[in-house]
Amino acid sequence: MTAVVRRIAEWNRVAAGIRREDVLGLVPTMGALHNGHGALFDEARKHCSVVVASIFINPIQFNQRSDYDLYPRVFDEDVAFCETRRVDYIFAPPDNEMYPLPQQAFIEIGDISEHLCGQSRPGHFRGVATVVMKLFQILRPQLAFFGEKDYQQLAIVRRMVRDLNVSVHVVGVPTVREGDGLALSSRNRRLNPAERCLAPTLYRALLTARRLIACGERNAAAIKDAAILVLQNVPQIKLDYIELVDPGTIRRVDVVQAPVRAAGAIWIGDVRLIDNVYCDPAQHSTEDCSTQLSMRTCGVNVR
Ligand code: PAJ
Repeated sequence: MTAVVRRIAEWNRVAAGIRREDVLGLVPTMGALHNGHGALFDEARKHCSVVVASIFINPIQFNQRSDYDLYPRVFDEDVAFCETRRVDYIFAPPDNEMYPLPQQAFIEIGDISEHLCGQSRPGHFRGVATVVMKLFQILRPQLAFFGEKDYQQLAIVRRMVRDLNVSVHVVGVPTVREGDGLALSSRNRRLNPAERCLAPTLYRALLTARRLIACGERNAAAIKDAAILVLQNVPQIKLDYIELVDPGTIRRVDVVQAPVRAAGAIWIGDVRLIDNVYCDPAQHSTEDCSTQLSMRTCGVNVR
């Protein structure tokens, strides 16, 4: 049975009953749970004897009021989902429990938060880091699980924990995808059927980047251009960014000499989607690279 805890004082009573030998794992979420969150719960279940999922739609990380208002809220379904994944506790505080006073202390994240999504969503990562730190303080987990789907968020949480000596072990979990490659996301619910059909194009564009790197291309600008071309073939898609970044610092790389993350963000209608893939220049392609590379230079859509 999954127990729902709404108040910090109530959690403190639960925590008092957790044994010394138990390992507490936290999976922070904003609800509208899907199998991507499910993979985090499963991973937590593997390593921890007590698993707590937080469900809190954090107002201070939204930089568009409409995105916050339209964020799916399906709490009863979420509770049922947690039951099936053997989550022990759901911590679902109301807004006034997390922010009883207007928040004045924030976790300020430096350079690592200024690239990629930091450019198009000012203040977003400050809101994320602040709520994650609050959840760490309130729930006091030994392990915390985050998805690689939000790769920059994962890198920022790792860096925050390191820089501020927080005694939590952060575990990253690979992205769960639909059969057509689309990364599972709570925002996918807002796509209409036509938009949903186009949504996997982002993943295809990122795979194009990965394939070119595996074929020996090292010039990031050329790789990005090829990935962007894939997206430009679909007029309903508005590009936010495609970048190749260092996996630790999230800084843009110009020449691919070591593993990078190819990351992208697009708009389809009023829904913003993000995704990223790991690209290792040491992994050589078994495909016909002459076709890949010549298609790239001709500006032809590399599948
Ligand atoms: P949310 O978008 O609900 O995501 C919660 C966690 O699930 C994040 O760590 C995210 O990376 C992971 N996740 C989402 N989709 C995934 C997928 N397809 N595969 C694997 N993991 C996936 O991220 C947030 O909430 C918030 O910013 C939060 C950290 C809770 C702070 O408010």
